[in-house]
Amino acid sequence: MTSSTVVTTTLKFGSNHEPISLPVRVFSLIRSLFVFLVSENVLLWSRFLQGRRNPQAEVEGPYYVVGAPDRRLEEGKALLASLDVLKAFGPYLVTITVTSPKGEPVPHAVLDWWQADTAGSYSLTTYRLRGKMTTDAQGRIEVLTVAPGKYGPEGYERAGHFHFTIADEEEKKWETLTTQLYVCKGNDAKEMGTDFLNFVRPARPANMVQSWSIPSSDGKRFMDFPPLAANDIEAKENIRWWNEKLAEHDENLTVVAGSQVEIKMNAPPRLFFF
Ligand SMILES: [Fe+2]
Repeated sequence: MTSSTVVTTTLKFGSNHEPISLPVRVFSLIRSLFVFLVSENVLLWSRFLQGRRNPQAEVEGPYYVVGAPDRRLEEGKALLASLDVLKAFGPYLVTITVTSPKGEPVPHAVLDWWQADTAGSYSLTTYRLRGKMTTDAQGRIEVLTVAPGKYGPEGYERAGHFHFTIADEEEKKWETLTTQLYVCKGNDAKEMGTDFLNFVRPARPANMVQSWSIPSSDGKRFMDFPPLAANDIEAKENIRWWNEKLAEHDENLTVVAGSQVEIKMNAPPRLFFF
């Protein structure tokens, strides 16, 4: 299947809780341990590894699982959440533009995404809220998902975040980037201050997205996000497209919030061991 192939324009809500086999779970756990100890060694990551080379880089963390399914609907559009998850937490539409360090689009980059639901729960037995997707020729990808929730020990919670890697599989000019995007209530980066990861790497407030909301008829704003700007024609058009698709399954289900963000790739390291 080529990166420009149109997969389908009908949302397949029932098919994205695929089970993760035991061998894949065990392999992923061993792999994560290797990443933690070696390729993202916490003592080196900020000073010498990707944390130094790219201000939008982030550590991978322990919850990545290999082999996530393709979530593309069509070029530049991906559906990550299933209908039950969207109904439970509310559809959140995030649009990402992947660029070079000079701001040129990175076409057909492959994202491998994983996240907690809005209650802060990861699935480690299924591919719920996990999947791969591809940017379009302009480096853009719209992802329909749910806002990620906080999790972690009391007093040291991590702010809600999306995890993903970005691979420049078409031009192969840029280093594969591991990153996280934070979604904080009211767009207040203070939520990132309790993150237990702050003990091993500096906080990454630049990775907090500026979310907007579509206020409900009684004026309620999802997670206290400001209303979508009236002149944001592009976001409105994207929301209309997704709402039409959602209405095929549930006419009461509409996009409640979202964000747009640009992520810059960076050149590979010059030294072979970095
Ligand atoms: Fe996480």
